[in-house]
Amino acid sequence: MSYETILVETRGPVGLITLNRPKALNALCDQLVTELGQALDGFEADSAIGAIVITGSERAFAAGADIKEMAGFTYMDVYTSNFITAKWEQLAKCRKPTIAAVAGFALGGGCELAMMADFILAADTAKFGQPEITIGTIPGAGGTQRLTRFVGKSKAMEMVLTGRMIDAAEAERCGLVSRVVPAAELIEEAVKVATKIASLSQPIVAMAKEAVNAAYETTLAEGVHFERRVFHSTFATEDQKEGMAAFAEKRQPVWKNR
Ligand code: HXC
Repeated sequence: MSYETILVETRGPVGLITLNRPKALNALCDQLVTELGQALDGFEADSAIGAIVITGSERAFAAGADIKEMAGFTYMDVYTSNFITAKWEQLAKCRKPTIAAVAGFALGGGCELAMMADFILAADTAKFGQPEITIGTIPGAGGTQRLTRFVGKSKAMEMVLTGRMIDAAEAERCGLVSRVVPAAELIEEAVKVATKIASLSQPIVAMAKEAVNAAYETTLAEGVHFERRVFHSTFATEDQKEGMAAFAEKRQPVWKNR
């Protein structure tokens, strides 16, 4: 498949997607979002891929939805087409582990896209924000909901109501990103973490991801119940037998992904 707005490559068991509209700071136009969905589909279907990294350029992960593209849309245009944000949910629904590796601006839809990944690794140059309020709209790809769950009401309200950007250090302090690394090491580090995840049992990784995600969808009691059932079901896998036997025998496990 050839793409115009993204670059797609593999690094061993890791699928790497680079948003690539440098002149527009990776603004998320319809074509880019469509191509991103196609690339994710390809990696989801490829059993050699165990984890996916999404990144942008040094200057911008993505500076938001494409303002020039959407400026003239009417209510009926966006309502009828369920304006692109429905397509974006594909990243949030991806069954394989996903990491957003963010350098530079992650604004508006860019911040929302990063938050759809399983976790965000940030370069020390990263800047996050939901500046939609400053252009007469509000976040439309989950920003008011996911940001609030990541950072709590006060900071989410301040960011959404003022459009203030936060830097990488503040993003780490408030739990928006898992870690901050030097910009020059971002991709290498993200691929390293993704490779580690891909080296583990893929079905067990998928179960762990599902269980953590349940924390966002359910009450604590239901989430703990769901976790216990998934935990129990790991005992139905060959990889649980292999992992625990390997520990007892002081050797590395050989995962069967079964
Ligand atoms: C379209 C964009 C863009 C965007 C930047 N560009 N962001 N084009 N949509 N979101 C373009 C600029 O027009 C410019 O093109 C080029 O990229 C470089 O940007 P500059 O503004 O010249 O760079 P700089 O001065 O360094 O400022 C960087 C910036 C600024 C602070 C990131 O570009 C900016 O504020 N961008 C908009 C951020 C934003 O409001 N995002 C939220 C969008 S709404 P030219 O052709 O002039 O060189 C949104 C809603 C999501 O995301 C809801 C779901 C759909």
